[in-house]
Amino acid sequence: MPDSIPRWREDFPVNWEDDHYVTRRSFTTFLTFISSALFLGTGLVALREWWQRWRPAQFTALRIAAVSDVTIGQAKLFFYPTKTDPCLLVRVAANRFVAYSQKCTHLLCPVLYQKEKKQFHCPCHEGYFALEDGRPLAGPPKRPLPRIELQVKDGSVWATGMQV
Ligand code: FES
Repeated sequence: MPDSIPRWREDFPVNWEDDHYVTRRSFTTFLTFISSALFLGTGLVALREWWQRWRPAQFTALRIAAVSDVTIGQAKLFFYPTKTDPCLLVRVAANRFVAYSQKCTHLLCPVLYQKEKKQFHCPCHEGYFALEDGRPLAGPPKRPLPRIELQVKDGSVWATGMQV
């Protein structure tokens, strides 16, 4: 090695311009870190969903409406078990009510009640659910709408639980 090259150059042979390039090893480390973070995040979301679905549910009774407020064939929006869970109550006969979560079991779009066809329609991907039991009739949804347990007492309709 010529004398004009300082000793420190031997210890640090990378040129300043080359120092700005990302090495293959750095890039691989970065990709591994990002992939691991995504994998972990997805796992945590899946775990949270699983826990919310299978934990022992504790529902408090909620008065939805007076029986006289809902005519036969009419639907009423309410929120149960929390204020961010929209549900639909439908009076199917004089003494019979049904209620379901309004969240489509495909990708959670709100379903709409179709009185004439006695079904629920999800406009996002043309999903359909039966009014009688919430089972999927057509489209991508494979699971029924979660059913709200109801009780009629003292002239009012109460939500008392939920069947997921
Ligand atoms: S979200 Fe309802 S059919 Fe896709």
